[in-house]
Amino acid sequence: MAGYPAWDQDSAQLIVAGLAHLEGATLPILHALQEEFGHVDPQAVPLIADALNLSRAEVHGAISFYHDFRTSPAPRRVIKLCRAEACQALGCEALVEHLAQDHGIAVDAHSQTSDVAVETVYCLGNCALGPAALVDGELIGRIDPARLSELCAGSDRGVRT
Ligand code: FES
Repeated sequence: MAGYPAWDQDSAQLIVAGLAHLEGATLPILHALQEEFGHVDPQAVPLIADALNLSRAEVHGAISFYHDFRTSPAPRRVIKLCRAEACQALGCEALVEHLAQDHGIAVDAHSQTSDVAVETVYCLGNCALGPAALVDGELIGRIDPARLSELCAGSDRGVRT
């Protein structure tokens, strides 16, 4: 779980006001908002623009220029799926198809709206027990579609080292 509070415009306003005096305040404000909420909601744009006397386009430009800033809440779960050679031989591409067909999840999609994000990685050092994945930091071997579905559904039952 990301563990961040929901976006709150009043709290965001306080954070903006508290840092607006800094020189080059845009980035410190964006970092502070992301630290507090886990993302920088689009509602922050007019707050920052007004406080710093910038155009909304300038603020938006800063948010999109730095890839560190998220504009929507972080996914509840991140699955790093190995797609290197050994895991390919053991069927990882079938898992990629399963994710698309049964869960509507596109691996490595940059849309930040999904509850579950799946990213490609190349070799987790678990080749003999592929297909392998790292789920919330835990290494999992021999993933099959059923287990992957459990993980996507948020069950921690599938998470084992
Ligand atoms: S190739 Fe997948 S863990 Fe090594």
